[in-house]
Amino acid sequence: MNSYIELKNLSKKYNNQKIVNVLSNLNYKFKKGKTYSLVGPSGSGKSTLLNILSLIDRPSSGYLLIDNQKINFDENMSNDKLRSNNFGIIYQEKNLLNDFTALENISLAGIANGKTQSESLNLSKKILKKLKLYNRSNHLPSELSGGENQRIAIGRSLINSPKIIIADEPSGNLDHKNAKKFFKLLFNLKSKNRIIIYATHNRYFANLADCRLQLINGKLKSINARK
Ligand SMILES: Nc1ncnc2c1ncn2[C@@H]1O[C@H](COP(=O)(O)OP(=O)(O)OP(=O)(O)O)[C@@H](O)[C@H]1O
Ligand SMILES: [Mg+2]
Repeated sequence: MNSYIELKNLSKKYNNQKIVNVLSNLNYKFKKGKTYSLVGPSGSGKSTLLNILSLIDRPSSGYLLIDNQKINFDENMSNDKLRSNNFGIIYQEKNLLNDFTALENISLAGIANGKTQSESLNLSKKILKKLKLYNRSNHLPSELSGGENQRIAIGRSLINSPKIIIADEPSGNLDHKNAKKFFKLLFNLKSKNRIIIYATHNRYFANLADCRLQLINGKLKSINARK
């Protein structure tokens, strides 16, 4: 009942010089309240799958359902709205706009989603306090460490209270200490109405998730399901 995202016979292939079958007929249900890790060799399709889940890329065939609604990948405007209302997305790097401060980077994401400037700034300040980065509010991304950049990216992903957080190798460029800090914050965001899905190459961080998924030869395998 509480499955929120569903893949139905979802496939993705690229058809350039030769056909590359990246995702083959995936069927899976992501449930609210759970954290999911996605592992798999380089090139196995982790980013492809995350980009489809976040409506940035489209499947070649099959369906993606969000909250029981079939996504029509031709409806760019409504999908953009769905994404900005419901998703927080974090990449491996370059999440932030270079010419804006940490505070502005977070608050702009709120303003883009319809919050007033003062509402968004106030909320961003609260988020920065929660992230223990309030004293970095006026720093530009180039004046922040890699770990701080990624933690600000969490803040930016949070401002619109997303139901779904998607992170693609978010700690890929961090040392272990900063990566641990990052995941501690990410797991603090777990809540009963939220789904968190992240791709990682790191087994230690993959094992922290409630559900561990592996992409191999185009298929999605569930490695375990912790309660
Ligand atoms: N535009 C494209 N045209 C053709 N093939 C592509 C395209 N984009 C991705 N691919 C191929 O799709 C496969 C999956 O790529 P993807 O980036 O999803 O892998 P990944 O699991 O995220 O890898 P990594 O761990 O290195 O980030 C790769 O073989 C890649 O070469
Ligand atoms: Mg990738």
